[in-house]
Amino acid sequence: MDSFLYNEYEVARETAFVPPYPPATFLPPQFQNFEDLVSNPPLHEAISSLEIRNKVDKLPDCPPEFFNVLSLVEKRRLMVILAFAAHGYIWGNGDQILDRLPPQVAKPLDFLSKELGTVPLGSYATTVLWNSRLKDPNVGWSLDNVSVDLTFTGTKDESLFYTVSVCVEVAGAEALWSLQCILLEISKDSPCLDLIREHFAKAHRSLEHMLSILKQADKMNSELFYWKIRPYFAGWRNVLPDGVHYAGVDDASTRRSYVGISAAQSSLFQALDVIFDISHEEPGATYLHKMLSYMPLSHARFISHMKTQAAGHLKNFVRGYDDLTEMFNRCVRCRAEFRAVHLRQAQKYVVKEAFREGKCAFGLAKPVAAGGGIHGAGATPLRLFLKSTLLTTKEAKITGGTGIGHVKPEQ
Ligand code: HEM
Repeated sequence: MDSFLYNEYEVARETAFVPPYPPATFLPPQFQNFEDLVSNPPLHEAISSLEIRNKVDKLPDCPPEFFNVLSLVEKRRLMVILAFAAHGYIWGNGDQILDRLPPQVAKPLDFLSKELGTVPLGSYATTVLWNSRLKDPNVGWSLDNVSVDLTFTGTKDESLFYTVSVCVEVAGAEALWSLQCILLEISKDSPCLDLIREHFAKAHRSLEHMLSILKQADKMNSELFYWKIRPYFAGWRNVLPDGVHYAGVDDASTRRSYVGISAAQSSLFQALDVIFDISHEEPGATYLHKMLSYMPLSHARFISHMKTQAAGHLKNFVRGYDDLTEMFNRCVRCRAEFRAVHLRQAQKYVVKEAFREGKCAFGLAKPVAAGGGIHGAGATPLRLFLKSTLLTTKEAKITGGTGIGHVKPEQ
């Protein structure tokens, strides 16, 4: 398959939306002040003791040109550091929450987000895509072989959450590639059906692999996840009444309100949905569309390209062949199974946890009485949202050769 699409959109054959090379380990020496934000003491200690705020306040106020010397991987490293530091700065240890980022951090965040085509705060890219590396580069992506650079809490559970996510992303690369190969094949005058069958089998194996990795997230401690880790995923929208002022970037009266860190910003899931013609409905469709602007721009452009070039093609083609229809349906069933397991996890880690009493509540962690457990990172009604993406996935199955199937919602 021609890989031009992949090169143009920074999507790698082996790793999909995860860069196929390791992130930078350190910034060049003149950026030591920024490196110091996450070491001596480690970031999680600086956040819980609030020292992160002093460290950020003492940073030099650098002009944008200062950051131009950085390579792409170094810019991503700095973006990751600044995004973690910014969330740590705003949320602190939950006691006194701030609503202003000083120029020393607001300016480089604004500059780098434009350079990297992303948002000027934490996102799925800064916590997962650009924040993980292989311990042994000669061994593939598996939970045991990934290390995460930065976490808010220094807990194994937080590392596991990002590790599972990045391994799910890489596990799905084979599916994305094989499905692209099928799309290419069916665009030809005489597509080779055997080749298509081979690619479907590979895609299905890869989707099953994604599912088996997702199940490893069951090993987290749900109390720790909801009350200690998840608060920091909050952005500046819905949870802060007026958003955050980016000092030195915006005029004094301007506040920015962004959604925080969410796997709904994964490009892999949205790309697979386009290929399988899974078209989401409210509540969720508008939010998922909005999440495109939180992805690295090249990845969001890849999804729009897929929408204009490929939406519905696979489904229309396989309808003409019983065995290919079955292969398509097996893949869709696997996607639905992923969403069913994920819904159970959201129930366990978010909805049920919110009923626990007497906890320090801030950011995305709130007790039920204050509306906790009901909303996702983007204030979506999370159970309805996740049930609805599960339902639309089930509905994408082809039934009886007559077109789109209809499955009753699960109660
Ligand atoms: C096990 C712990 C997890 C919990 C508690 C959890 C929770 C949630 C919540 C609350 C949402 C609603 C989105 C929002 O408001 O931003 C969401 C969405 C989503 N999550 Fe997770 N999640 C977990 C793990 C994962 C993993 C490991 C992945 C895959 C890498 C993932 C992929 C997604 C996707 C793609 C969405 C968007 C909805 C969809 O496409 O169905 N999640 N998750």
